[in-house]
Amino acid sequence: VMKANVDKDTCIGCGLCPSVAPEVFEMDDDGKAKTITEEVPDGSEELSKEAEASCPTSAISVEE
Ligand code: F3S
Repeated sequence: VMKANVDKDTCIGCGLCPSVAPEVFEMDDDGKAKTITEEVPDGSEELSKEAEASCPTSAISVEE
């Protein structure tokens, strides 16, 4: 199972990850991203990896 995590101390709230992988990430009330579900849903693996690679502060980790 692939798992996604956002380090809120590192996230700057750029908003990129929810636009790249909207089934995995959303913006929290504090203006930073969070995972909707820790386990990446089927079909969102590639997009989760793309979000991880695209985050400007490398706040996202996606691991098998
Ligand atoms: Fe934050 Fe990176 Fe997403 S800065 S909003 S975790 S793309």
